[in-house]
Order: sequence, then C-alpha cells, then structure tokens
Amino acid sequence: MTTPLVADQFKSDPRYASAIQNLLAALADTSQQITEPKSPHPDCRQSYEKTLADFASLRAGALFYPYIASGIGNGALVELADGSIKYDMITGIGVHGLGHAHRSLVEASLHAALTDTIMQGNLQQDAVSMHLMEDLTTLAQKNGADLPHCFLTTTGVMANENALKMIFQKNFPADRLLAFSHCFMGRTLALSHATDKPGGRDGLPQTLNVDYIPFFDANDPEGSTTRAANALTQLIARYPKRHAAMCLELIQGEGGFNVGSKQFFLTLINILKQNNIAVLIDEVQTFGRTTQPFAFQHFELDQHVDLVTIGKLSQVCATLFSDNFKPRPGLVSQTFTGATASIHACRAILKHLHDNNQFGSDGRNTQIHNQFTQRFNAIHAKHPDRIAGPYGCGAMIAFTVFDGSPRTTQLTLQTLFQNGLIVFVAGANPSRVRFLPPMGVIADHDINAVCDILEVSLDQVAEQI
Ligand SMILES: Cc1ncc(COP(=O)(O)O)c(C=O)c1O
Repeated sequence: MTTPLVADQFKSDPRYASAIQNLLAALADTSQQITEPKSPHPDCRQSYEKTLADFASLRAGALFYPYIASGIGNGALVELADGSIKYDMITGIGVHGLGHAHRSLVEASLHAALTDTIMQGNLQQDAVSMHLMEDLTTLAQKNGADLPHCFLTTTGVMANENALKMIFQKNFPADRLLAFSHCFMGRTLALSHATDKPGGRDGLPQTLNVDYIPFFDANDPEGSTTRAANALTQLIARYPKRHAAMCLELIQGEGGFNVGSKQFFLTLINILKQNNIAVLIDEVQTFGRTTQPFAFQHFELDQHVDLVTIGKLSQVCATLFSDNFKPRPGLVSQTFTGATASIHACRAILKHLHDNNQFGSDGRNTQIHNQFTQRFNAIHAKHPDRIAGPYGCGAMIAFTVFDGSPRTTQLTLQTLFQNGLIVFVAGANPSRVRFLPPMGVIADHDINAVCDILEVSLDQVAEQI
C-alpha cells in the first residue's frame, strides 16, 4: 500500500538512507582516529587564543576553561579546536551522557535535520514530540508513580519554572516554597531565589519566598533526619498554609553530590503530605544516573511524587505531573518546546540507556561508580592527604582533594585540564571535584586511563601547594 504522505515518500527515497549511511560511515572512520589524550598542536595556537579572547570579549567574561570543541570526538574523548584530545568527565555538566560523536545521536540528529523545521513549538509540532512524552511518562510511571502528563521545554530552569507555576496556581494562595540548603534549581529571576547561592541573587529583587531545610548527613543519619523534620515542622507552623511545595533534589548536584536516604525523604514527605504541600522532585542533574531512570525510583518514592523535572542528559527538558496539577489554559506555553534534533536525540538516548543495561543494582551506572571508587580508594591508601570521599551515586561521582579549599581544588582542575582530563567543581567548604562521566559509552579502560591522569596530576599539585 502506498502512503498518502509526501514526507514518507521522501524518507523512502533511496538517496535518503544512503546519504545518512554514508555520513555515519565517514564519521566512524574519522572518529576512530581519536584514541587517547593528545597535547595541543602548535599550529592551532594563535587562532585558538584569538577565539578564546573573542569569546571573552563578546560574552563579557572569560570562559571557565579554555575549551572550544572542534566538533568531533570518540566516546569519552573529545577533540578541541587547538588540536588537543581530552577525556571528558564532565560532559557539559551532565549533558553528553553518550559521549562524543555517538552514532545513534548523530543518526537521530540527521533524521531531525531532514524534517522541515529546526525547532518544535507548542503551536506546531511533529508526532515525535508526542512519542517522547509517551516514552517519558511510561518510564516515570513504571513502578506506580502517578505522572501521566508531560510538558516539554528547552532548559532545566524552565522545567522548574513551569512546575512552580502549576503548583502555585493549584495551591493558591500559598506563596512560599521549601527547599534544601545548598540546593540548585536554576537561575531565572524566580529560581535564583530558590537556588541557595547568594551570588546568584545578588542585586535581584525578591520574587519568591523560600525556606530552607538542612539536608541529610550520611555521618549522622538519624540526627540529621530529626533536625530536618523539626525544621520543616517549625517552618510550617511559622507560616501556616503558606507553603505551596517543597522542592527535593534527591542527590544534590551543585551542592557537592550529597546523597539522601529513602527514610530521610519519607520522613519529610509524610509531614508535607499531612500539610497538603506538593512534592516536586528536581531531577535535572540526576536523571538517568542512578540505579533507575529516575532518582525518585532509586529511592522508592514513587507513591509520593507530584511533579518531576528533568534536563541535561535528556537534551530536551520536561515537567512531568499528576492530574491534580494540570495548569489552566494560558498558564504554561512557550514558542519552543525544543530543537527537533534534541527531541529525536532524547528518544535515542532513552533507548541506548535501556539497551546498555545502565540501570539495576548491578547496572552500568553502578559498575562505573564502583570502578572509580576502587581507584580513588587505592590513591587514598597511598596518599591519605590527597583525596577523600568519594561522594555521589551511580554516574555522579565527586571527591575532595587535599584540604578541599577552593584554591587547591581550582589548581587541581587546571592541572587535570592540562593533562587531558576535563572535570568540574561542586559544593563549597569544602569544594569537591565533580565527575558526570559519559556513562552510556565509558569503557573500563577509559576509567583506568582517567584515574592514571588523576594520580599523576595529584603528584604535580602536591609539589605546588
Ligand atoms: C538540579 C538542577 N536543577 C536545575 C538546573 C538548571 O538547569 P539549566 O541550567 O538547564 O537551566 C540545574 C543545572 O545545573 C540543576 O543541576
């Protein structure tokens, strides 16, 4: 039977498939030349430095790293425009979970590029957006959570904004939010007030009233649970019926990869539910990185979740929500739901994570965590003063170096970068070194190579402090 759609005729044109296959074959041939870290090429130096200077001038501030991608890589390795090759253990802060030049992502992007629009939006979109929303709500509800609805958006902070709008509209006239100390929810005018970083709201008018609860302390599980429950009860008593929601970041990302516990969260959630306060889980950083697709599934909180936000790894961001929080018309809409390529890519990523056995108690995320931990512990055994931790869970791994001061951590980051390893910082007092590795592709030999670079770099830092 012939299809009535011209679009299907285009996709079944033999030139369509053969062009994609040719491009993928050329990419594979080229990208496999990238096998190990390499120093910058002297011939690229001048133009690279000029590009860095132009960046700094145009964006009115220097880049954190002298990092400008060339546009190709191979798995956990990325080529920079100065000709260097580096291990990417931060992946754009958790975005490139399938590493660099991944075949299925490039293929998804090529299919997206051959549709008629660059962007999808609320007024006009392809069925692929609906298929993605179906994928996400099915995944979120696999253990019984009640999250049948999904609203796509372009950034993590907009997913949180949309969630808060739904919550405040539903729980009107409650006008306050609860969150954990040291949480990060993004940097819009509203969410800069939820994010617990003074620099992020410096000079901004007050747009949201937020009350903070201390986070779980793994060294004092019972004491910290009692302290948090008491703080929550006191704040609710102080502002009766004024709290619309509590935002729970189950593993604090920017805060330093602090991991909570099921009992800790359940204790707080019980108090929240008794007071009709909505439970919003911010999974912008945790999504796809624990033993389950969602961290709320990892902590078995499925029955208690009202809204969940995701981002980063998913390429397109989303707010998932229960029927109770359905917004009234006019509250939530945007020109863009996401780039067509990001929507196609998200579906490819979900499939890859499933096929790659990423989840489960002995899934790839846990194996990666354990292999890094073993190597960090071995370094600690040799040099107890150099590395402490690790912290985090699954494909979220952090540790402190030396005295944990911002200065020494910064020096360590720079040394690692020069030696071919890109990582980032998290937390303050102490500062931690943060890894968000490309968990969908990183191989055991990559982990060993990364830890070899870390060990050598720590020797170099030890000589300088
Ligand atoms: C937990 C969490 N929520 C929200 C955000 C904001 O996401 P975006 O930077 O995409 O707006 C981030 C970003 O780091 C995050 O880690």
